[in-house]
Amino acid sequence: MHLNPAFPHLTDFPFDKLRALLKGVDAPAHLKPIGMQIGEPRQATPQLIKDALIEGFSFLDKYPPALGPLALREAIARWLERRYGLPHVDEATEIIPALGTKESLFSLVQALTDRTKPNPLVVLPDPFYQVYEAAVLFSGARTHYISDWADAAKQPDFSNIAPQVWKDVQMLFVCSPDNPTGRVLTLETWKTIFDLSEQYGFIVLSDECYSEIYFEEGKGPIGALEAAHKLGRTRERLIVMGSLSKRSNAPGLRSGYVAGDAKRLKPFLMYRTFNGASMSGMVAHASIAAWKDEAHVVANRAVYSKIFRELTPKLASHIDVTIPDAAFYWWPDVSQFFGGDDTLFVREMYRATGVTALPGTYLGAKLPDGSNPGRGRVRFALVATYDECADAVERIRGFVDRV
Ligand SMILES: Cc1ncc(COP(=O)(O)O)c(C=O)c1O
Repeated sequence: MHLNPAFPHLTDFPFDKLRALLKGVDAPAHLKPIGMQIGEPRQATPQLIKDALIEGFSFLDKYPPALGPLALREAIARWLERRYGLPHVDEATEIIPALGTKESLFSLVQALTDRTKPNPLVVLPDPFYQVYEAAVLFSGARTHYISDWADAAKQPDFSNIAPQVWKDVQMLFVCSPDNPTGRVLTLETWKTIFDLSEQYGFIVLSDECYSEIYFEEGKGPIGALEAAHKLGRTRERLIVMGSLSKRSNAPGLRSGYVAGDAKRLKPFLMYRTFNGASMSGMVAHASIAAWKDEAHVVANRAVYSKIFRELTPKLASHIDVTIPDAAFYWWPDVSQFFGGDDTLFVREMYRATGVTALPGTYLGAKLPDGSNPGRGRVRFALVATYDECADAVERIRGFVDRV
């Protein structure tokens, strides 16, 4: 059977591994399970989005253009200008609507990898959103990992990558605010990234799907387009991806954008005219309403802010959770328990408390020396209601006291 050679190298999706880990393990019957394993917002999708989606039924009789409607590109461009203080984003050449960041990051790598070069490489953070790796494997490129990514207190050190590696690098993925660490890259780090991109000619793919989940109004995390502007750089070789999934509690809408380097977006658009990933006119209509409204985003943040500010100190007495720079995860080091085995921590925590989290190992790549940068850590997604998260904290405290 002929298959894309990526298949044998794919690992199971983290949530499939988690299902296998917890198979046959019973949570306490008297406790309602609390899922903290998946980064899927659970607050209600705003009514204005639902209303616009229904209005958008009228677009069902048309094939949607790959470039999306002008009104949507305008809404995204103006939002980027407002959010990041950018002088101008060109809706004609610098924006392509996408079906969420997952879809766009995957297709960008397929479209932009140059397979005529002898050793195409893509650099990934590690631990990381596992779709990056699959995207690279399917494109026929190879991965190279930045393995000091796990500690949110430190900015990543790109100097660990040798010049002979950089010379083959065609793309670099970064995630800021990051999943799972919550770390936001600083302007200095962006400068390093842009300098390296200029020196070696690779494209920077910046995953910013958590950009709107932060804890202090008026202090939104810096984005890559903003960093480029502040540093007086052009957008050449810079592509940013954003999404309504987390910002607007609409993961099922499948709506996001790709923005940046017009020269690279042109072939990407051509790729999209063939691959059929155009956004439905109905979804585009709802997305315009979402990008134009900020009130629901502020309200959304207030919920996360209360959860993180009030509950982090309660759990910090038991495990090393901190309020992240942004995004909605705790990412504690739990290596003092169960001999450092995070999968055992998660399994036994589930058995004792009914709380499910994701082992850090499932978010890291196994490196040639057998290590995994996610090992000894656990990711908790604080996406449930305040009361459920508070209940989870009490249960986890009790569990940690016992182990
Ligand atoms: C880092 C990261 N990138 C991309 C995605 C996919 O998000 P979207 O719904 O925008 O496709 C996720 C989802 O959890 C994520 O954590």
